Amino acid sequence: MRLGILTGGGDCPGLNNVIRAVLFQAIKKYGDEVLGYLYGWKGPINNLIKPLTLLDAEGIFNQGGTIIKSSRTNPYKVEGGQQKVMDNLKLNKIDALIAIGGEDTCGVADKLVKDFKAPIICVPKTIDNDLNATDQTFGFDTSISIVCDALDRLHTTARSHDRVLVLEVMGRHAGWIATMGGIAGAADYILVPEYDFDIDKVAEAIKIRKKEAGYAIVVVAEGAKFANEEILKDQEKDAFGHVKLGGIGDRLAKAIEAKTGFETRSTTLGHIQRGGSPTAYDRVLGTRYGLKAVDLAHEKKFGRMVSLQGNKIVDVDVRDAVGTLKTVDKELYAQTKVFFGDEIKQKVKA
Ligand code: F6P
Repeated sequence: MRLGILTGGGDCPGLNNVIRAVLFQAIKKYGDEVLGYLYGWKGPINNLIKPLTLLDAEGIFNQGGTIIKSSRTNPYKVEGGQQKVMDNLKLNKIDALIAIGGEDTCGVADKLVKDFKAPIICVPKTIDNDLNATDQTFGFDTSISIVCDALDRLHTTARSHDRVLVLEVMGRHAGWIATMGGIAGAADYILVPEYDFDIDKVAEAIKIRKKEAGYAIVVVAEGAKFANEEILKDQEKDAFGHVKLGGIGDRLAKAIEAKTGFETRSTTLGHIQRGGSPTAYDRVLGTRYGLKAVDLAHEKKFGRMVSLQGNKIVDVDVRDAVGTLKTVDKELYAQTKVFFGDEIKQKVKA
């Protein structure tokens, strides 16, 4: 078989582990050839290719990023883009294409399968963990480990200065990074895009926490919103229609300081959450996904996505993974509220 492979959307740690596993499984188990398409969907649109061998897999197991580059190109937003993808797959005699990506990349794959019967297998990637039909995407574990490390560091400096520190993390529509990173790093308040927040309640909780501990730590997802906040229009959007977010951490810190009178500073973790070496968990998950994706290609199970269900790697219809995002469920979020929420019954002495 001749396999194509591409990585689309925001990069994340673990991509190279998937590529390495695909190369091992394809070349050693099946005697296949593998062609890398560079820069996500831009690769098959413009025929940007790089033949891959086992040598390319050498030493990449602990490297973040992707050796075949990435971009947020959407073939359905490029003139004739989808047809160019199909033509170039044909030109390179590709029997199956493994597309590694999140909601946007897999969404394009789903359309190509539907419109052209394209021979595509998907692998679920994103630090945001917001893809449906899988228990977890690879990259997420690394990003929450980075958030946890940042919070460990913010605790010690916040404690020394009796400050309130706000950490802004990624997550446009889903607060998985904020929730899980915040739990791991003992945040005193966690704010997510799923539930708009009431600044008065945040300020009250921080006053309580300051009294108890002298300092407080707040984690806020980049997509979180003040209740009744105007949605900003006319913002710059990418090819998949996402606005570029950022700035909630600063605005929140100012609002907390104004409401409580406590010195409050904010830190934005940004792309640090996406860079560097993958955790052991993401290396293993990415590897298991890559191995399974090649098996699915040989079974001609096109339009399928590899998926983690419990501790098994299975395959699902890619359609079940795209369309709606997997957001933080109420039950999980409610559990975290014992640290800050409305239901705290404890009386705090003046
Ligand atoms: O989709 C992953 C993600 O890291 C989001 O959490 C974040 O909003 C976005 O990518 C940032 O994208 P970019 O690096 O392309 O600006």
